[in-house]
This record gives sequence, structure tokens and C-alpha cells, in this order.
Amino acid sequence: MPFRIAVIPGDGIGPEVIEQGIRVLEEVIQHTGAGLQFKTYDLGAERYLRTGEVIPEPIFAELQSADAIYLGAVGDPRVKDPQYAARLLLRLRFELDLWVNLRPSRLLAPGLTPLRDAASIDLVVVRENTEGAYVGIGVERIQRYAFELARQRRQAGHRGRVTMVDKSNALYHAHDLWQRVFALERQRAPEIEAEHLFVDAAAMQLVKDPGRFDVIVTSNMFGDILSDLASELVGGLGQAPSANINPETRRGLFEPVHGSAPKHAGKGIANPVGAILAGAMMLRHLGDEVGANQIEDAVMAAARERRTTKDLGGDLTTTGAAEAVLQRLERIRSSSARQPGDGGRITSRRRPPRAGPSPDLLGSEDPWKEARRHRHRPDHAGG
Ligand code: IPM
Ligand code: MG
Repeated sequence: MPFRIAVIPGDGIGPEVIEQGIRVLEEVIQHTGAGLQFKTYDLGAERYLRTGEVIPEPIFAELQSADAIYLGAVGDPRVKDPQYAARLLLRLRFELDLWVNLRPSRLLAPGLTPLRDAASIDLVVVRENTEGAYVGIGVERIQRYAFELARQRRQAGHRGRVTMVDKSNALYHAHDLWQRVFALERQRAPEIEAEHLFVDAAAMQLVKDPGRFDVIVTSNMFGDILSDLASELVGGLGQAPSANINPETRRGLFEPVHGSAPKHAGKGIANPVGAILAGAMMLRHLGDEVGANQIEDAVMAAARERRTTKDLGGDLTTTGAAEAVLQRLERIRSSSARQPGDGGRITSRRRPPRAGPSPDLLGSEDPWKEARRHRHRPDHAGG
């Protein structure tokens, strides 16, 4: 039986990037065996403006029973209801109890970081996703998850360090709980390196010394903020994927971190990489580690060649950037025979390719300078 994937392209650039994400997924699943059956749902601003509905109940029931949800973006300037995004995206996160929000930031290519001396950045923000600061279990389970993730990453050659980020010096009642749980969790896992930072110091350290971070575990709002900061350190919102999962029920919603960028919709300039990498996270969640790794390797190879949209240093369209990934996939597949999937891990066990500048690519020129400048224009199409 194939996995049933509910697709919500959503608003703005959402449909364009999801279309490319599905192209890449379809290509990979032909070869790695994870059968996926996509069903697209007409949810989003158009429907809301037409009918007043955000998620009709029968559709909610279908989404609930799907094996995974693949979502583009939510947000449209024509919708004045300030609760619209909450009624769509946050409702799914809360009511499906997708309490882990995994937001990896890995430097895809040298020069994509705006930082001068960042040789390697490869971290994951583990964001508490159902806002449970006042419910003990919300804090306990997310911290335990982060320690387990750090353990797995350590086996894969990462540092395996947990940084717990809160604001317990000011939010005494809510965040003292984070402190108490952290004390217990680090006792349970003495072999894992663990540290604590207040959120203001964590923001500063992310810019100053991003290489010190491996797994950052934090509350919903701080995770929202720090994950945007971390993604800009490695190439911007356009390339950032995210997974909203419940490790017990195995439900999951996979989406790029970026928003709907309505101004850029329909122009073919949006970066599909965030959506493509979110598709890889979905495959991994469904047990196809091989397929997920192939997509990630292909994205990284295309990024290093600057066969990307403008925000990552290239000059390709949305479709062109996805095609570059597809071509790389073909090469990766023909050079590596298929290995059996090893199912359901929460992170890759491979040692990642070194992200530091490689002399052959950098030379004396810095080919990514233009990309960084482009991203920093307020109207960029990254997200
Ligand atoms: C995100 C977004 C959402 C959030 C918004 C759209 C409600 O910023 O996914 O990071 O705050 O979680
Ligand atoms: Mg956000």
C-alpha cells in the first residue's frame, strides 16, 4: 500500500514550490521504492475568500487520516482575518498534536553564509510546536526528543550537543519548568554534552559562533524566531525545510519554513529548495532514508554548482532549479547502487559533507557575494 500524502499547496508561491517538490519526490520514489500517492486539497485563501471556510470538517478528517501532509505556504494579503493562518496551519499542528518542529540549518555551499568565518554550520532547531509551557509533558517530551536526536547525531559524526534555550531569568513561572525538566533530562543522558543559554544570548551566539551548536531545543516562539535566524546563516529562508511531527502517532506535516511571498507568486522566481528538502524530511519520516539522502545530496551538489535561484547564487527559475536537482539525482543514482532503506530515523546517520569553503570553487573570487546581497534586499524571493 502506498503512503497517502495530503498535499496543501496553499497560497502565494506555495503551489509553485510544492509542484517542484512533488516532481523530485516522484523521481526518487520510482527508484527507492517508497510508494507515495498524492491527493491535493483546495485549501487556502482562494477557498476562504470564495466560501468563508478554512478547513471544512470532512477535509480535516481526511487530513487526519493521511500518512503525511505536504504543505506549501499560508498567507494572502486579501485575507483580513488575522486568525486565518492559525485556523489553517496552527490548527493542524495543534489538533494533530505535531509536537516536534524540526528545523535543520545546514550550510549548503561555501559562501552562502553572510558570516565571515563560519566554516561549518549544521544544526537543528527542535522547536516545541504545540505551546505546552504550562503542561509539564510538553516540555519534558520535547527535551527528551532533543537528547535522543543529539545521541543519534553523535553516532553520525556530529558533535551531539544539546543547547537548551529559554528565558527563565524573566519568564520565571513558565520557564522555570524548562529548567527543572532540563536538569532531569541531562541527568538521564549524562553522556550527552548539554548546555543552557538564555534566548538573547543564544541569538548572539548563533551569529558569533554558529559552529558551537548542534541541537537547539526551545519553546514554540523562541524556536520560531531562532529558526529564521539560523536559516539566514546558511542561505536564507528559501532553502529552509521543516518537519512537524508526532513521534508516537507518526503523523507529520512537512513544509518549507518560508511564507507565501505573495509579491513573487506566479513569476517563476521562488526558490523550490525549501519545499524539496521538506519532501526529503517527509521521505525519511516515512522510512525511506535512502531516498531522503539522495535528495539532500542532489540539492547540495546543485547548490555548490550554483545551479539555483538567485537567492542561492544562481540565475535559474523555480523550474530550472528543480531540474538541476533532478539532474544531480540522476547522477547520484547511477553512481550508487540502491541500498535498502533503514526506516524511520529522526535524522541522517551520515557524516555530512564538509561545508567549509572549498578552494576549487572559491578561488580568489567570491561567487556567492551577489546571492547574499540579493537576499538582503527586502523584496527577495527566498520566502
Ligand atoms: C512558521 C510561521 C508560523 C509560526 C506562522 C505563519 C503562524 O512563522 O511556521 O514559522 O509562527 O509558526
Ligand atoms: Mg516563522
